[in-house]
Amino acid sequence: MSTHATQSRTSVRTLKEMKARGEKITCLTAYDASFAQVLDQNGVDVVLVGDSLGMVIQGLETTLPVTMDDMVYHGQAVARGLQRAFLILDMPFMSDASIEQAVASAGRFMKQVGASMVKLEGGADQRELVETLTRLGIPVCAHLGLQPQRVHKLGGYRVQGREQARADQMLEDARILEQAGADMLLLECVPTALAQRITEQASIPVIGIGAGVHCDGQILVLYDILGISAGRIPKFSKNYLADTADIAAAVRQYVDDVKQQRFPAAEHSFE
Ligand code: KIV
Repeated sequence: MSTHATQSRTSVRTLKEMKARGEKITCLTAYDASFAQVLDQNGVDVVLVGDSLGMVIQGLETTLPVTMDDMVYHGQAVARGLQRAFLILDMPFMSDASIEQAVASAGRFMKQVGASMVKLEGGADQRELVETLTRLGIPVCAHLGLQPQRVHKLGGYRVQGREQARADQMLEDARILEQAGADMLLLECVPTALAQRITEQASIPVIGIGAGVHCDGQILVLYDILGISAGRIPKFSKNYLADTADIAAAVRQYVDDVKQQRFPAAEHSFE
């Protein structure tokens, strides 16, 4: 058996090379093996097992009740469906409440699920944690902008960084987290111009959701692009199943639109 069986898998290095050559990175969430396989076989570069599973799978109002066991269960299912795509797991609410707890949680994702990266919400306050995980060889995606786990503190799901002081703070947070060792940034619900500045400043890939077309890549919640999320589809998303024949075709259309910078359009972005 080859010792390089994972060679064709997308890696942190592949993603950085994509940013360097200006190729857009396509990302979607998944929560089970069957959907993961569809994404893997239809050109999605990165699959995130998001704690959004609390809302779209479990029917919860927020992501806060999602547990480590939930994440491991869905993460293992998704991992079985992937051969090529890069796998990220979300650190659920309170799993990173202390450095020790976060190391144990992230270590569990790497060992029990086979994750390639963990994603955590927070700004420069996560610097020490990012440094620690980096030292241990655990790649980190730092989630800035709207952080759904802080919804009660933020007072609702709203665009972040519209005021100058908050925009400056986000630029600084991005710089500090990259310096601490983060290998990826994710910007959620951030004005297009600010997301562009952060993307240009960063040497690591910046993935956007509701953050405009200038990010290095885009991510959406799978159930939103299939039009089956409960309630209204968010402004920053698009129902790709509405104009395509089947799920695989919808995923391919999303991938193509992101690669060609047709998505997101102005109507999916914020000023
Ligand atoms: O939990 C999730 O699915 C996410 C995406 C919305 C980026 O964090």
